[in-house]
Amino acid sequence: MVIRKAVIPAAGLGTRMLPITKSMPKEMLPVLNKPVIHYVVEEAIKAGIDDVLIITGKGKRAIEDYFDRSFELEYYLKERGKLEELKEVEEIGEMVDIYYVRQKKPLGLGDAILHAEKHVNGESFAVLLGDDIIISEEPGIKQLIGVYKRYTCTVLGVEEVEWSEVEKYGIISGEPLGEGLYEVRDLVEKPRREVAPSNIAIVGRYILEPDIFDALKAVKPDKNGEVQLTEGLRYLLQQQKNIAAKRIEGKRYDVGTLEGWLKANIELSWGVRL
Ligand code: UTP
Repeated sequence: MVIRKAVIPAAGLGTRMLPITKSMPKEMLPVLNKPVIHYVVEEAIKAGIDDVLIITGKGKRAIEDYFDRSFELEYYLKERGKLEELKEVEEIGEMVDIYYVRQKKPLGLGDAILHAEKHVNGESFAVLLGDDIIISEEPGIKQLIGVYKRYTCTVLGVEEVEWSEVEKYGIISGEPLGEGLYEVRDLVEKPRREVAPSNIAIVGRYILEPDIFDALKAVKPDKNGEVQLTEGLRYLLQQQKNIAAKRIEGKRYDVGTLEGWLKANIELSWGVRL
């Protein structure tokens, strides 16, 4: 029951961060001197993942260039004796095996994940959204892998959010199984506060099993033509599949919003000597 593969959906348009995302993928926004997606890939590697599939789309070439080797740059740094910088640049090019698949149209997170079906090839896999950076002792996704090893079922990363924020998230209702661990009974996408079953929100980390693909194919797209992952997960519940939710311990930054991105930069810069 080893989770070896991770999928990072990164094909969204990032409209909440316009205008910068007009010509720059939001996954490439800097947090200190690294792009957001660098932290996400690092988290996966620290959790023992050795195969990363990034779902990209139009205008996302900068992501591929970032993780690629850059022989010209490496040569330049070597010639000038900038060996520390050289080491850092070389390491990025060799972090992990990264593969890419393109989602031709941004038709939702569920549709993006459907594009991973061939690559994951029947294995259970981790999903890490590029919008969330999690700073924690034990990598966020590793905390979910621990639950998966114990229960061998779909696992959702969750966090208690302010009640005023529930309408921005997928919200679960569930039976407590232990400290910060739930058996999911139902899921609602972006409920109004008055009708939300709890304030336990799904954050951008999941362990999915291959049955998610049939579920995503079975559900109807929403009114915008997008296939939502939450709908696929609800379908699994209707099929009596078990879904666990685990509170992720650590500090999460939603870098898909200006507020979260600024917070990440300010808080992570504490202790950085200028
Ligand atoms: P979001 O809804 O947060 O991303 O999707 P977005 O659509 O880019 O953001 P806004 O709302 O317009 O600002 C969550 C994750 O799913 C990916 C996004 O890249 C993000 O990592 N995604 C979303 C896709 O890969 N494809 C899609 O069609 C939609």
